[in-house]
Amino acid sequence: MVAARIAVLGRDAVSADDPVLRGDDRGVLHGDGIFETMHLRAGTPWLRDEHLHRMARAAAAVELALPPRAVLVGLLDAVRAGWPAEVEGALRLVCTRGPESGGPPTVYATLAEVPAAARRARVTGITVATLPLGVPAASRTALEWLPTGIKSTSYAVSTAARRWALRTGVDDVLWVSSDGYALEGPSANLVWLVGGTLCTVPAARTGVLPGTTAAWLLAHAGDLGLGADERMVTPAGLRGADGVWFTSSVRGLVEVTALDGEPRPPSPHTAPLQALLGLPVEPA
Ligand SMILES: Cc1ncc(COP(=O)(O)O)c(C=O)c1O
Repeated sequence: MVAARIAVLGRDAVSADDPVLRGDDRGVLHGDGIFETMHLRAGTPWLRDEHLHRMARAAAAVELALPPRAVLVGLLDAVRAGWPAEVEGALRLVCTRGPESGGPPTVYATLAEVPAAARRARVTGITVATLPLGVPAASRTALEWLPTGIKSTSYAVSTAARRWALRTGVDDVLWVSSDGYALEGPSANLVWLVGGTLCTVPAARTGVLPGTTAAWLLAHAGDLGLGADERMVTPAGLRGADGVWFTSSVRGLVEVTALDGEPRPPSPHTAPLQALLGLPVEPA
C-alpha cells in the first residue's frame, strides 16, 4: 500500500498528518467548494486538461477565485512527484471558499491508491437500484440562479444515496427524475448501447455532471465502429440495451449487472470499451 499524499497551495507537499483546513473554512462549514478527481495512470493524470477546464467552469459558476491553471498544474505535479508508475492513483484537486473570517480560497491536492473495490468492480460489474430524485429531469437547469453540472463539495445528497444503497444491499444507485428519466449515479454517469449507438444523458438539459469519462468514450466510440448520441432514457428503456454501464474517472467503466433486482446479460462490449479507455482490468 502506497501512503496517501497531500500538497497544499503555498506549501507544496506536506505530511498527510499535517493540518490543511482551518476549522472555520467554508468548505467544511457549508460544503462551499469545488473539486475534481482524476485517474493517475503511469504516474500521469488522465484527461487532466478536461478536468481543469471543468473546474474552471465550476469556479466561474460559483464565483470562486480559482488560482491560474499553471499554479494548479504545479500543485498536481508536486503531489504526484515520485509516485510509483505501476500504482493507479486517485488524484483529487480541491478548492474551497476559505476561512469564514476572510482570506483566500483553500487549495490542495490529494493522492491515494485507487481502492481495490473500484478495481474489482471493473471485473465483477455492479448491481444498481433506481432511486427517485424527486424533481423533473429539466427542472434544475431551468433555475437561472442554480449552478448545475458542477462538481461541488456539497455531497450530502450523494452520501445519503450511498448509505441507502448500503442498507438496500446494492452496489450503487441510479437517480430517476419525477417524470421518469434515468439521470446519473451519485458519482458516475450512465452510458448505454442501443442499436450500435453509445449513449449518455444530456447534461445541458438535465443538470447531471458532464462526465469527462463519458464524453471521451462517446468521442472515441467510432474507433469501435459505434455511433454516439446524448439521449433521454427511462429505466424500462434500458432493459433492451446491449449494455449498461456507469462511467467515472477512477472506476473507469463498470458494467451494470442487475438493475432493480433484474439481472442483465453480460455485454460483449464491456471489455472492448474498457480497452478503448485504456483501463487496467485484472482478474477479481
Ligand atoms: C455526480 C457525478 N456524475 C458523474 C461523474 C463522473 O464524472 P467523471 O467521468 O468526469 O469522473 C461524477 C464523478 O465523480 C459525479 O460525481
